[in-house]
Amino acid sequence: MRLTRREFTHSALLAGVAATLPAGLLSGCSVSSNAARTAGSPAPVSSHAGQFDTSSEIAFPRNFIWGTATAAYQIEGAWKEDGKGESIWDRFAHTPGKIKNGDTGDAACDSYHRWREDIALMQAMNLNSYRFSISWPRIQPAGSGPANSKGVDYYSRLVDALLDARIRPFVTLYHWDLPQALEDAGGWPNRDTASRFADYVDLLARALGDRVSDWILFNEPSAFTDLGHLEGTHAPGRKSLLDFLRASHTVNLAQGAGFRALKATRPSARVGTAFSMSACEPATDSEPDRLAAARCHAITNLWFLEPALKGRYPEALAFLPETAMGIKAGDLDKMRAPLDFVGINLYYRTIASAPGAMERLSHAQQWLFPVKMGVGQQGPRTDIGWEIWPQALYDVVTRISRDFNRPQIEITESGCAYNDGPDASGVIRDARRIAYHRQYLQALARAIADGADVRGYHAWALLDNFEWAEGFGQRFGLAYVDFKTQRRIIKESGRWYAKVAAENRVGPV
Ligand code: FCB
Repeated sequence: MRLTRREFTHSALLAGVAATLPAGLLSGCSVSSNAARTAGSPAPVSSHAGQFDTSSEIAFPRNFIWGTATAAYQIEGAWKEDGKGESIWDRFAHTPGKIKNGDTGDAACDSYHRWREDIALMQAMNLNSYRFSISWPRIQPAGSGPANSKGVDYYSRLVDALLDARIRPFVTLYHWDLPQALEDAGGWPNRDTASRFADYVDLLARALGDRVSDWILFNEPSAFTDLGHLEGTHAPGRKSLLDFLRASHTVNLAQGAGFRALKATRPSARVGTAFSMSACEPATDSEPDRLAAARCHAITNLWFLEPALKGRYPEALAFLPETAMGIKAGDLDKMRAPLDFVGINLYYRTIASAPGAMERLSHAQQWLFPVKMGVGQQGPRTDIGWEIWPQALYDVVTRISRDFNRPQIEITESGCAYNDGPDASGVIRDARRIAYHRQYLQALARAIADGADVRGYHAWALLDNFEWAEGFGQRFGLAYVDFKTQRRIIKESGRWYAKVAAENRVGPV
C-alpha cells in the first residue's frame, strides 16, 4: 500500500523520533508520568459501522453555514507578483525531488487573477461562506515591517467582492506559507516567530477587520509542525524531534499572542483555529491499547487546543520535555486563547495500539511518545488512500463538545480526492464525492442532534488545486480545474452541494 501524507506522518512520529532524539535531550527535562491518568479517559470504541444509510433526509439547523475552503499557496499562483516575498513553500517546491512530478504552486489555479471567477463558482453553488487564507509574504515580504499595500489591496478587493456576493469571508491567517526570511531566522522553532506572527495579525486586523468578522489563526498546527519539522515531507523540510517540539511551543505561544492582537484591535471579532482532528480508536479492547488511544487523542487533537482553552499541555507524552520545548515561566498563561469557536478539519480515523515491550526498550522515542498510530482498514479508500469513515466526524465532534463545555464548532474542512475528469460531454460525474459528503454530513447531523453546537460545514475544496507534496495529482475540488487552460467546470458534486446549500438539507438518494 502506498504511504499517504498522514499514514506516513503516523509512522514517522514513531520512526522519526528515534532517529532524531539526541541522547542528552531528555536529561534536562522535568519528568511526570501521565500514563496512569490518561488511562482513565480512553477514546470511545466506535460501535457503529463506518457507513450510513442513505435513504433518509437530513435537515440542518436554521442559519447553518454552507461553505468551501482553499489556501493561498494551493490556489493563488503569482508567486512573485506585486512585491510578494518568497515563502517556505516556494523554496520547498523549487527544490528538486520534494514534490511529486516536480509540480510547484508558481501558477496553481491562478486565483490571484481569477478570483472573480472563483466567487462566481461559489455563487453558482449557493454558498454563504468562503474559507481562504492570506499569504503572509504577500503582506510582509520579509516577515516583518510595514504592510505591502499591493498585497493588502488584493485581499481587500476579494473581501469586498465576497461581501457583495453575500458570502462570508472566513479568513485563515496562516495556512503554512511562512515568509522564507523568518525561516532563515530560525522559523517556528525560534520563539521570536510568535511575536512576528502577532505583528502580522495586527496589520490584518487593522486592514481588514472593519469587514472581516470571522478569523482562523492557524490551519492544522499539528500537521505543519510535524510534517515540516519532524517528518520533513512538507516545507521547510526539517527532520528533527527537537525542532518539532520547539515549533509546537512557539505555535502555541503564537496562538495566544495572535488571539490577543486581533481582539485588541477588533474586540468583537470571532476568532478560532482550524485543528486537524481524527477519531483515535484503540486497536483492541485491551487496557494498553485504550491507553494508547488516549495518548493518540491528546497528541492529535489536543496538543494545540488544550493550551489555548485550558492553559496547559495535554497528557500526550510520557512526560513533558519542558527544557527541550523551550517552555519558560509564564508561558502557560501566554498560550491561553479563549477561542470563540473550535474549527475542525476531519478526514478519517486513526487506530492506536500500544508499543510492545521490546519496542519500548529499543526505541528511545517510545518513552516520550508511547503509541503506535495506523490507519483503519475497513472503510473504502479515496484516490489518495485515506479511509472513508464518517463515524469519525461524529465521534470527534461529540467528544470535543462534551470535553470542552459545548463550544461553538465550525467544520473547517472535510473532503475527498477522486481524480475523475470530464467525460465526452464535458461532465465530471464524481458520484463517489457526493457519497462522501453525504455520509459525513449525515454523521454531523447526528452530532448536532446529540447536542453539539456546530455552526457550519466547509467542503475541502472549492476547486482542484496544488495538494502539497502530492502536487496536482490529487483532486479534491467541487469544481474541476484544467491546469493547462485554467478553465473551471463545476462537477456533479458541486451541483449536488449547491442543492444542499439552497435547501439546508441533504435529500435522500
Ligand atoms: C488538509 C489541509 C488542506 C488540504 C487537505 C486535503 O490537511 O489543511 O490544505 O491539503 O488536507
